[in-house]
Amino acid sequence: MASPRPLFLTFEGGEGAGKTTQILHVAAFLNARGRSCLLTREPGGTDIGRKIRALLLDPGHAAMAPLTELLLYMADRAEHIERVIRPALAAGRTVLCDRFFDATVVYQGAARGLSMEWAESLHELVFSGLRPDLTLLLDLPPEVGLARARRQMEKGGRAAREGRFENEDLSFHRRVREGYLELARRRPERFRVIDAGRGEAEVKEDLLRALAEFLDLPPAEGRR
Ligand code: TMP
Repeated sequence: MASPRPLFLTFEGGEGAGKTTQILHVAAFLNARGRSCLLTREPGGTDIGRKIRALLLDPGHAAMAPLTELLLYMADRAEHIERVIRPALAAGRTVLCDRFFDATVVYQGAARGLSMEWAESLHELVFSGLRPDLTLLLDLPPEVGLARARRQMEKGGRAAREGRFENEDLSFHRRVREGYLELARRRPERFRVIDAGRGEAEVKEDLLRALAEFLDLPPAEGRR
């Protein structure tokens, strides 16, 4: 049987959307259908990237200039594309990436106010516009997502030393949500919007259905 063509899938959403859990369900679904999946994330998908991640998410760096922030995300991405994403795609693997450049367009472009168009054109210029085949946007009200994310931090699920964005006010997170929804409206061929304000099983079911449709595969078995 011919191996399936390499695929680049990204997962996006605000804080507490459940990407980290859902990406595992998607990987299991695709692995079971003969795709070798590589799971990775931004920021922090490489050794250098993990150091950049620590700088970016340190709550002590609240006053970082927006442009510094954007360029650090792009430096993380440069390393990640060069060392991880392109080699995996070239080897025929399916890459599942927890956040990619849409996050820069939305967090730095829309929420920090540097301009979404400008952030997109920088991506075009620097990374020849490398785009995912499909972007799954886990959408939920920021009040719900932030409460989830903060609970996880209290339980130690996510280090408090990574809380810089969780400390931003609600209006910042509202701009993030609006930014993502605007991108999804502008690029309906690439984005699928999933309502992530529900339980894990319901979100998983919708995600797998969207993916099966995109890949022209039979849907996953019904929920158990
Ligand atoms: P994570 O919570 O998905 O691990 O992402 C860490 C934080 O980094 C999250 O608050 C979103 C933010 N972020 C940006 O602001 N710009 C970016 O380009 C990326 C990839 C993430």
